[in-house]
Amino acid sequence: MATYSDALSSYIRQTFAREDEVLAHIRQAIPERGLPAITVQPEEGRFLQFLATVCDSHLALEIGTLGGYSGVWIARGLASGGRLITIEKIPARATVAREHFQLAGVAERVEVRVGNAHDLLPGLGSEGPFDFIFIDAEKQGYPAYLDWAVVNLRPGGVLAAHNAFRHGAVVDPSHHDPATKAIRNFNRRLADHPHLVSAVFPAGDGIAIAVFRGKPRDNC
Ligand code: DHB
Ligand code: MG
Repeated sequence: MATYSDALSSYIRQTFAREDEVLAHIRQAIPERGLPAITVQPEEGRFLQFLATVCDSHLALEIGTLGGYSGVWIARGLASGGRLITIEKIPARATVAREHFQLAGVAERVEVRVGNAHDLLPGLGSEGPFDFIFIDAEKQGYPAYLDWAVVNLRPGGVLAAHNAFRHGAVVDPSHHDPATKAIRNFNRRLADHPHLVSAVFPAGDGIAIAVFRGKPRDNC
């Protein structure tokens, strides 16, 4: 079996996940603007675009905008007339992201909401259901975001969550930090959830994915 490697990653990038000038610029600009260099890798971004497309996203949600790199990939996968709402806690990051959405020509389709996702999500429920939800925010919040997502995805809708591997810490028993514990808890619950079919896309830092099958009706 081939082991996923830097060489295979670059092969995927060159074959399936070529960045245009705008995406390459945004990925480079994020650390230059003082934001942490923790955006998804190009092959992960392409996969997000794929997921947004495959579930015919008229309404998508991202939790954790950062500089807008993953948001541009998702916006490019939206259905015609589709919208992405993306939540960012830190106003300076939201400002950079809005510039990047303008640059990419997707600003009409993308709305950045500034605030703590735990505060904003309860009010967002009435705007749903959502076709696609991508989680890439503070790791201790993941289990609560999962609870919200299973209530607010449409049947057939897709959930994706970055950092499923937490840079390898999920399988290293010496890691007991709260963020790693939260990711292990999230992955386990995603895998065992009776209303989800889940898997992991094992490129980059791993993207956990699940499709919401819908809840069986109470009376049948
Ligand atoms: C961290 C967060 C991320 O979402 C990521 O992709 C990489 C690192 C972090 O908080 O360290
Ligand atoms: Mg991440």
